[in-house]
Amino acid sequence: MSIDATAGAFQRSRTVPVHRALPSLVRDPVNALAEIGRRAKGEVVRLDLGLFRPYLVTHPDHVQRVLRAEWTAYRRDGMFWRPLRRMIGASVLGEDEPWESGRKVLQPLFTRRYIATIAGEMAKVITDCVSRLDEHAQAGRPVDGMEEMSRIVNRAVIRVLFGGRITVEEGERLAPAYDTAATSINFRLLMPFMPYSVRVPGDRAFMKAVKTVDDVVFPVIREARVEHGESNDVISALCRVGREDGGTELDDRQIRDNLVSVYGAASESTAMTLTWLWPLLDAHPNVAAKLYEEIDRVVGAGPVTPEHLPELRYTNMVLQELLRLYPAGWIFPRMAARTTELGGMRIKAGSQVLISPYASHRLDEFWERPLEFDPERFAPGARDGAHRYSYFPFGGGPHQCLGKHLFYVEAPLIVAAVLSRFRPEVAAGPYTPFPAASLRPREKVMMNLVPLRHAPGAAA
Ligand code: HEM
Repeated sequence: MSIDATAGAFQRSRTVPVHRALPSLVRDPVNALAEIGRRAKGEVVRLDLGLFRPYLVTHPDHVQRVLRAEWTAYRRDGMFWRPLRRMIGASVLGEDEPWESGRKVLQPLFTRRYIATIAGEMAKVITDCVSRLDEHAQAGRPVDGMEEMSRIVNRAVIRVLFGGRITVEEGERLAPAYDTAATSINFRLLMPFMPYSVRVPGDRAFMKAVKTVDDVVFPVIREARVEHGESNDVISALCRVGREDGGTELDDRQIRDNLVSVYGAASESTAMTLTWLWPLLDAHPNVAAKLYEEIDRVVGAGPVTPEHLPELRYTNMVLQELLRLYPAGWIFPRMAARTTELGGMRIKAGSQVLISPYASHRLDEFWERPLEFDPERFAPGARDGAHRYSYFPFGGGPHQCLGKHLFYVEAPLIVAAVLSRFRPEVAAGPYTPFPAASLRPREKVMMNLVPLRHAPGAAA
């Protein structure tokens, strides 16, 4: 048998046919992908969905090649990126020049050191937002976990991006608009071959959301431009580009595209990640008890400040494990720019390659009991020697997430602010993943917040 024939047979054996893949992909796409990856034991597989035949890439060696070693051969295009581009434009979330220039401007604003300069103010914003839950807690009124996490994260992120240039009311128009965009993209996410000349469910809501975002953002950009401000918010930094060194300034559209991209990347992802935390804690009382003990000991009645962060070690382990099981960026596809080979499969130019940390983080070959929530996996030293790309909630290579340091300041501040005031009770699950742009529970996460006796405002 010739090598080509052997390769052909191999390709065929690694193809999951439409009749096997489609029913479960329609029912529960997120877990169906993960299950296909688990059955293939990390081998590259092709999903034959008729008009759409993407490759699922889960093995850490292969993920590393796509995201890092051969990243120029795999571009952010096609599925997911094309529909999203109608919201984010040409920006740091794209490729080529818009990505390069966006990344160059934004990177210095998200370093550990830079984030430390705004952490104090962020902690105050978070404490203020969380204290507004007292009223619901005192009245014994359950709150919607996703809504509340979005409200809190939104206020914190808006501070980082816009400084004081935007009112709370304007800021609160952004979150629901972006949320509508993230969920109404669903049809196009799952049917990427559908031409844009054909209206599909969700299109109208998506475009309306884009208009709302533009109505809020453009006037703020114009105002920031004339002010020539030196503030440390992202919008001021984008307006300063080219001003001091005589280079080319960004136009309003370029500023808008980068701002809206970072807003989306920063707010949805963090809010959805934190929404998953509460049902998980409820289902794992031993983890919850350890977390409560740490926050009681380190933060007490609060308010939480950035000085507490180095002591919140277990909180950090919980967040890492949370991002293993529920990585908000559950899928970030690539399109092969040229014909290549990966794991013995020939990937033809123009094919879609699916990278899914949700699926990779569930491989038995790299994780013991991968479906169990167990923060001890991230105890000091526990991951020594592990493959760098067996765990990649923030991606990797040149497109690696810019917001990792921000996440590890913002998220523990929010968790500590909530748990220094309340003990949450959540209705028993199951909570199943819904495949929006950021992974979220399909079901509402209703939370009863029981006030702690030491918390300000709690009944004596
Ligand atoms: C739970 C929190 C977050 C998760 C799980 C997450 C995940 C990711 C992932 C997987 C990528 C890589 C995308 C790719 O390779 O195509 C990415 C890129 C990016 N993220 Fe995040 N992210 C989070 C929070 C943030 C925050 C807080 C920011 C705020 C600055 C941010 C800004 C970005 C940007 C600008 C990129 C594009 C980087 C580039 O292409 O050069 N993210 N993120």
